[in-house]
Order: sequence, then C-alpha cells, then structure tokens
Amino acid sequence: MLSEQDKQGNAMYRSLLIIGIVFLLGLTALPADSEEQDDGQARKLINSQGCKACHSLEGDGGTMADSFEKIRTRLSRTEVRLQLVNRDKKHGHTTIPDFSHLSEEEITALVNFIQPEP
Ligand code: HEC
Repeated sequence: MLSEQDKQGNAMYRSLLIIGIVFLLGLTALPADSEEQDDGQARKLINSQGCKACHSLEGDGGTMADSFEKIRTRLSRTEVRLQLVNRDKKHGHTTIPDFSHLSEEEITALVNFIQPEP
C-alpha cells in the first residue's frame, strides 16, 4: 500500500516528467539559432539594400528581375554570390547593382537565404 505522501510524490514526479518532455519537444521544434539569425539578417538586407525595387520576395516587390523564389530554382550558391559581388561586371550581368560594399558575413547571409541548398 502506498501512503498518501507517496502518492503525492508520484504525482509530482509525473508532472515534472511531462513538463520536461514538453520542454524538450519545444526545443527541437525551433530552428537552429544561427539559421534564424542568418534569415533575419538576410531579410533586413533585402529591405535595406533595395533588392525589392527589382526582385520580389513572397509576392512583395518589383518585377524587373526574377523573384527570389524563382532564382532559388535556377542558380547555385556560387552563381548567386557572383551576382552580388561583381564589382567589375565580369559576370555578364549589367543591370543588378554591385554589392561588394557588403561584408563577407552579409553576403553569406544573403546567399544562404536565397539558395539554402549546397
Ligand atoms: C536595379 C534593380 C536591381 C536591384 C536593386 C537588385 N537586383 Fe538582383 N538582379 C537584377 C536584374 C535585372 C538581374 C538579372 C541580371 C541582370 O540583368 O543584371 C538580377 C539578378 C540577380 C541574381 C541572379 C539571378 C538571375 O536572375 O540571374 C541574384 C541572385 C540577385 N539579382 C540578387 C539580388 C539581391 C540579393 C539584391 C539586393 C542585395 C538585388 N539583387 C538587387 C536587378 C536588381
């Protein structure tokens, strides 16, 4: 026979266990920290650098150039990077401005965002 105290102890142990499991499930549902940071930084840059004057993202922006969703289906990460850092217009394209004033970290955030696949 369990005493009243034992029963209470068991119930408390069980609820702590449940809280623990729910907490762990919550953690795995969150994206990795750095990914989230990258994503936020890229979105900020896309706004602050005026990319949306010409490109659209999620249906918002210009139509002069392809949407970021479309670019994602066509270009590799290297190709995306070459469009952004193209000071001498070596890569054929002439309309998109050169973004080599951005830091390496900022360019990487944009590349990761536009083309997350290797
Ligand atoms: C003045 C308009 C304009 C702005 C601003 C602009 N782009 Fe572009 N972008 C273009 C055009 C037009 C192309 C197609 C190639 C060309 O003609 O230069 C292009 C091409 C690209 C490509 C290669 C895909 C393709 O279609 O060849 C990427 C990636 C890209 N832009 C990303 C960006 C990002 C990121 C920004 C902001 C940091 C940006 N662009 C800002 C006009 C623009």
